[in-house]
Amino acid sequence: MSPMNSPNQSIAAKTTPSGAIHTLSTGALEQQALKTEDFVLFRDFIHEKTGMFFAENKMYLVKNRLANRMSQLGIKSYKDYFYMVKYDTSGNEFNALINLLTTNETSFFRNMPQLLAFSDEVLPVVLKSKAAANNRNLRIWSAGCSTGEEPYTLSMMIQEKIPDYAKYNIEIIANDIAESVLQAARKGIYHELTLRTTPQNYIDKYFTKKGNVYHINDNVKKLVKFSQINLLDQTKMSLMRDMDIVFCRNVTIYFSEDAKKKVVKSFYSSLVKGGYYFIGHAESLHGISKAFKLVYLKNGLVYQKE
Ligand SMILES: C[S@@+](CC[C@H](N)C(=O)[O-])C[C@H]1O[C@@H](n2cnc3c(N)ncnc32)[C@H](O)[C@@H]1O
Repeated sequence: MSPMNSPNQSIAAKTTPSGAIHTLSTGALEQQALKTEDFVLFRDFIHEKTGMFFAENKMYLVKNRLANRMSQLGIKSYKDYFYMVKYDTSGNEFNALINLLTTNETSFFRNMPQLLAFSDEVLPVVLKSKAAANNRNLRIWSAGCSTGEEPYTLSMMIQEKIPDYAKYNIEIIANDIAESVLQAARKGIYHELTLRTTPQNYIDKYFTKKGNVYHINDNVKKLVKFSQINLLDQTKMSLMRDMDIVFCRNVTIYFSEDAKKKVVKSFYSSLVKGGYYFIGHAESLHGISKAFKLVYLKNGLVYQKE
């Protein structure tokens, strides 16, 4: 029997660098083809709800991930599963589907130049203007935070940059649509792979090694508040206010242009006047929004609300 025909074969794995590996074992459903019309049902529904758009070349990936979940539930038809997700008023099955379909790749100190732009160039300017206004509140938003590496990196960098940080009211608001990654983020336990670009002095100072895993220290955790937010949920997004700095890196790359426009508009409303918006280093707002000013810093680019 060829590996492709093996009934208990594992055909796909969802991996995050922090070591959360979901092996997708499949049974009889592995053999079932996902018809284009059923793929389109899922694709359009996911797009409408989350902004993520799966082009037809992602059909195989979607099929594998759906087939795994359907095997667990004992559902044989893709259409039956679609209607189950659509009409599940608890939202639990939708969440299960999102946990499977999101790409959660991340790591600590991802793209160091951008992070230096944040800590060495943007943060001092923000703190200076706050000092002038006698304002000690600092709100930073890590939108699409995955398993927590980005907001925890920001927390560590803030603590290095502001030795008297305890005198400030600092909040790092971290959210994601996928509950599974938020659970991992709250635990704050990581394998060394996700620390591969973390400077050793940060590892020594902000992590505790237990066996072969690294626990993030409580003082780093203390500044970060995790919650589940879908960036396309206009009601929840309208409550996100007074942000000094927004990080939304490597999230909207999976979105349609229309969804990107909606999300960027929400970020604009969430930022204070003069607030900063970091996107992934390979991303751009070209054709998406003209509302922000592009600021050229020594270490990279950042958008600013004028
Ligand atoms: C590739 S990770 C990026 C993590 C981190 N920002 C970074 O750059 O390392 C993208 C994250 O965006 C989340 N995401 C996708 N669509 C979302 C949505 N509509 N609302 C909130 N989060 C979403 C995914 O669940 C995933 O964890």
